[in-house]
Amino acid sequence: MEISMIFKSKDGTAQGVAKQRFIESLATPDKRIINDPYACEFVFGSAVVKMIGHKFCVWLSQKILPGWHEHLVARTRFIDELVEEALINEAEQYVILGAGYDTRAHRLNFSDPFRVFEVDQPEVQERKRKKLPSVLLNNDRIVYVPVDFSYQSISKQLIESGFDNSKSTIFTLEGVSQYVSKEDLSSLVQEIDSLTQNTEATFYMSYIDELFTTNPEECCGAGFQKPGEKFELIRGLSAKSGEPWVSFYADTEIERILTINGFSIEENAALADLNSRYFSPVGRTIPESQLFNLERFVVAKKAVTNTTA
Ligand SMILES: C[S@@+](CC[C@H](N)C(=O)[O-])C[C@H]1O[C@@H](n2cnc3c(N)ncnc32)[C@H](O)[C@@H]1O
Repeated sequence: MEISMIFKSKDGTAQGVAKQRFIESLATPDKRIINDPYACEFVFGSAVVKMIGHKFCVWLSQKILPGWHEHLVARTRFIDELVEEALINEAEQYVILGAGYDTRAHRLNFSDPFRVFEVDQPEVQERKRKKLPSVLLNNDRIVYVPVDFSYQSISKQLIESGFDNSKSTIFTLEGVSQYVSKEDLSSLVQEIDSLTQNTEATFYMSYIDELFTTNPEECCGAGFQKPGEKFELIRGLSAKSGEPWVSFYADTEIERILTINGFSIEENAALADLNSRYFSPVGRTIPESQLFNLERFVVAKKAVTNTTA
């Protein structure tokens, strides 16, 4: 692939996240916090990354952007656990919004007749399906639903693809809200509310704390070096890849969007909250000076509202 193709290809950020999952998966089982055996399919130069290895890649990442790698893999682990818990609580279908190169549909232990709906822009889905090994694609459980949130409705496409609005459902929106307008996010949550009028639902979303634009020091651990510059570095790289960050949120804004659509927040965590949960047990406690609470991870739930159905 030409270098220029990596940029402006609509999947640059999805590739970036897959790369961090690939790097984490290179660690030995007793040291890693996630394992994504399929992430390598989406990583440009994966053989070189593999040769460099987990230790050096993470060291380099900590030099350039402390906490970046850890925040992305902690986010993946957090959602893996949430989906696994939903399965135990008998969720019957899963909608991955802005799925990118997420391979949860292949990694987690779903059993039939569970359905996973992967929603993303058509171009990104097409590329994903070309890159995944065909043995994984022959999987009746996964339904690909091409939707661009900026001008298409998820309800129509999901229902036409077999989404059953009487089934208990989990929705996740991982690392996507910063790329869509606030109006589009509100419409999306409204649609999720309409789709789940007759059933229980769990909704995970992450969002970039607006404090990062106003007071970045406030979001970082003591001794974190130049948070404002690091934030601008990420914003600049996203913009260069053709996927600029356009939306940042206050906690109260997210609470309002969720509450008016029938959801109650159960958890709102950031990297600092997950340090002792994920990194300390494998001997990788993140020092304060590398804690980068850029993004909030929110879990919201709703019970059945329409009892007459
Ligand atoms: C940073 S990637 C995250 C991908 C995946 N959720 C993960 O964590 O690996 C952002 C994803 O949002 C998707 N996305 C951005 N804008 C979108 C839109 N308007 N409609 C649908 N998907 C969108 C991109 O295609 C990309 O897959």
